[in-house]
Amino acid sequence: MSREPRSIGIFDSGIGGLTVVAEVARQLPNEEIVYFGDTARLPYGPKSTETVIQFAIQDSEFLLRQDVKMIVIACNTASAVALGELRDRYDVPIVGVIEPGALAAVSSTLNGKVGVIGTEGTIASHAYRESIRRLDSEIEIVEQSCPLFVPLAEEGWTDREVTLVVAHEYLAPLRDAGVDVVVLGCTHYPILKQTVQKVLGPAVKLIDSAEETARDVAQILAEFDMANDGGEKPVHRFFVSDVPHRFREQAERFLGAELPDVSVVTIDELTATGR
Ligand code: DGL
Repeated sequence: MSREPRSIGIFDSGIGGLTVVAEVARQLPNEEIVYFGDTARLPYGPKSTETVIQFAIQDSEFLLRQDVKMIVIACNTASAVALGELRDRYDVPIVGVIEPGALAAVSSTLNGKVGVIGTEGTIASHAYRESIRRLDSEIEIVEQSCPLFVPLAEEGWTDREVTLVVAHEYLAPLRDAGVDVVVLGCTHYPILKQTVQKVLGPAVKLIDSAEETARDVAQILAEFDMANDGGEKPVHRFFVSDVPHRFREQAERFLGAELPDVSVVTIDELTATGR
């Protein structure tokens, strides 16, 4: 039984990382979470590697100022390009969403053909492909960016005709290749799970990186004896860099619950150096 009461820091480009918060809270109900969503500067998906790394450093520094014991990069794009840089810089364990998703894909495929969908940034980095190949070099990987999925998920258009049409278009190469596993390599895609499943058919297994990441977090906390196994019910804290129109409504969709109070962190605060 360990009792490390410091919070787990989780960041994302915006609200999509709340899918990871929901899973971490479900799997680790004693852990307190500090969440930062960079809503003023999203999306990260189409931005350059340099810019995303710079933002990821600022997001991490903010979380470290909140005295977190671990950082979870809940954003696939930031995980794809900034994980190594953040691990080099900071002493606390840093968990990204790519490795857990890749591991789950490798252990789930039966025919050795895996599909990966994500933002342009994630797909262009080939981070999933490399991570999967490190685990099994024989696996055939089909990568596809699906940029329109992000606004469709934010709009809540989970079961509209337009979403189905877009999904058919994006997922055709994965269907043609006969993949039996597809990694939902973006925070927003679990929201569109049903549509993706409909297009790919029931035999294709979808890997939700949020679920896999939460499992990884639990494992690391246990390994380093850093879990908080007891104490009072945790009070999570939520910070964003802007509160855009319809933010609350969207956030509820991603979190699966009503969002408590959110505090705004200004870009000036975010870009201030030093902890
Ligand atoms: N959070 C991003 C990701 O998982 C999606 C949204 C964005 O492009 O910022 O890649």
